[in-house]
Amino acid sequence: MLIQKDHSLDKAFNEVHDQLKRAGVDTRHKFRFFSVATVNASKKIIPQSRMVVLRSFSDDWAFEFYTDHRTSKVEEIESNPIISALFWDPSKRVQVRIEAEAAIHNQDDLAESRWKDVQGDAQKAYTPVVSPGSVVDKPEDAHKWPDAYRYDYFTVIVCSAVKIKALQLSGMEHLAFLCKRSHESDSWDKNWIAP
Ligand SMILES: Cc1cc2nc3c(=O)[nH]c(=O)nc-3n(C[C@H](O)[C@H](O)[C@H](O)COP(=O)(O)O)c2cc1C
Repeated sequence: MLIQKDHSLDKAFNEVHDQLKRAGVDTRHKFRFFSVATVNASKKIIPQSRMVVLRSFSDDWAFEFYTDHRTSKVEEIESNPIISALFWDPSKRVQVRIEAEAAIHNQDDLAESRWKDVQGDAQKAYTPVVSPGSVVDKPEDAHKWPDAYRYDYFTVIVCSAVKIKALQLSGMEHLAFLCKRSHESDSWDKNWIAP
């Protein structure tokens, strides 16, 4: 268990934060893959969720994932920059849901600097000739890459957390907290909540 019932609220909050920061650097951490939900405000309001890889998680609760600028999620974030991220660690039985403001970085200094960390074949994820989501006659038609991988579509999404809801499963006595960032004081308003 990550959160214990004798923990103070600050201790529980810090334990969750520590695990997320670890996942930003440890490729085997259970929080490394997480789900991101978006809503396109200008189309039918149907939430869309998908798995992504956590690339970093900062002291200030900002986290990053990488994507191809042509994917639907980028259009959705452009239309509505509030995302919901969902993490689950089955070994610790902890779920963390984070509401965040997402910023899109494409062909700017941040994207250029992160692209340097994407090496070799990993670059293929962001450089296919055929745009993600396009209809193809057969799967192989989508497996084409240019001779040189260019970083034009490589995009870094930086998410700044504004609300955190954590749930620790524990027999029939689950534990949960809700923390909201106060922008005025740049502090967190923390409360235990009924699970
Ligand atoms: C385990 C896993 C990890 C993934 N990681 C990423 C990722 O880091 N970035 C990404 O753009 N897509 C990632 N994908 C693919 C997305 O889930 C999704 O299918 C794709 O990006 C298209 O999403 P969209 O059309 O909803 O934008 C991952 C899929 C899985 C199953």
